[in-house]
Amino acid sequence: MKNSTDIFFMSGTGNSFSVAKDIATGLEKNGNSASVHNIENLFDIKLIKQANSIGVVFPTHGFTLPWMIFKFLILLPRGRGRYAFTVCTRGSIRIGKFFMPGLGGSANAISALILFLKGYKPKAWKAIDMPSNWTVIHPSLTNKSCNWIYKREKKKIDSFVPVILQRKWSIITLNNSYDFLLGALLIKISIIYFIFARFFLTKMFFANEKCNSCGLCEKQCPVGAIKMRGTKKPVPYWKLRCESCMRCISFCPQKAIESGHSWAFVLYLASAAYGLPYLFAKYIIPNDTHQWWFFWLSIELTIPGLVIAYHLFHYLIRIKIFNKIFSFTTFTRIFKKYRHSEVKVTDFKKEPNTRE
Ligand SMILES: Cc1cc2nc3c(=O)[nH]c(=O)nc-3n(C[C@H](O)[C@H](O)[C@H](O)COP(=O)(O)O)c2cc1C
Ligand code: SF4
Ligand code: SF4
Repeated sequence: MKNSTDIFFMSGTGNSFSVAKDIATGLEKNGNSASVHNIENLFDIKLIKQANSIGVVFPTHGFTLPWMIFKFLILLPRGRGRYAFTVCTRGSIRIGKFFMPGLGGSANAISALILFLKGYKPKAWKAIDMPSNWTVIHPSLTNKSCNWIYKREKKKIDSFVPVILQRKWSIITLNNSYDFLLGALLIKISIIYFIFARFFLTKMFFANEKCNSCGLCEKQCPVGAIKMRGTKKPVPYWKLRCESCMRCISFCPQKAIESGHSWAFVLYLASAAYGLPYLFAKYIIPNDTHQWWFFWLSIELTIPGLVIAYHLFHYLIRIKIFNKIFSFTTFTRIFKKYRHSEVKVTDFKKEPNTRE
């Protein structure tokens, strides 16, 4: 009987989607059956139960796995000893001849651990370097550099396919050790990102004056984090469930989505004020245990504070002068956006392939 593999992916700008597709093509060329499924379109438990083996491909966020993948893995049905592999894509940089790989950190290790606890055999992990898509903090790489990276990593994907075909163990590799060790060192940053910083990033998004209310961003968001608000000229409003996957900012046809750097500064000052209970505890109360409680109190105050501040911002941004001020004081206005050169936004919403 042919081996069948169901590859589940999450992808903001197409990198992980293209890696999942390349792995599936490699498996099929070798006589296996493989299908690629977007986890935002389906969560077909029947399909997962049928599969001989599964693979999970996703981007790295904050040196770990994104919340959406974490949730998907937690909800998976029991593996009953089935083979599994995990692949995180990392954001690498290439400037001139200088190449810097990304850092997957604990992304693969945590995914594999969850799979293991669910009764799968996560025998192979791999990190694939793709062009970094975090265009909120840097401009996209040039097309030449992106193509160079795609070509380089294609070889790595091709060498990973036989590992999957032969169900080989592939955990202790140089690349995985680099991720694992640095991921362990940076675990505190990952935890802060996972439970707090990602909410802050969400509340930096806004649409500038070029927005024509087409609603594409609302339709294409993988987690339904955008709501068009307003009657005369609706504009997108970002909810806390945003994964910061960069799809909306990269695929907006008007290039109207910005991440407000000057607004982030205002938000930072506002959240610093919410940190006062923690500072009070740190310098006034000598007991460490109590300081920890005050730290959580600060966080609990900060998140509702962010929501309230963003509501206000959302109304201000519709006033021309405020929109202009915030649009002209953000770097995203000049940053080139990134998306995988061979991926179209409609690819994400296609029906999943079905196994023959
Ligand atoms: C919010 C955010 C956080 C990121 N954090 C990391 C990271 O910690 N390490 C890394 O190597 N790449 C990081 N990246 C880059 C992406 O993981 C990388 O570009 C990935 O290939 C994007 O895949 P996608 O197009 O399938 O979403 C981050 C990107 C974003 C948007
Ligand atoms: S996709 Fe762009 S232009 Fe269309 S509604 Fe969203 S922000 Fe506005
Ligand atoms: S709002 Fe934009 S960045 Fe956030 S999850 Fe949706 S598409 Fe991704």
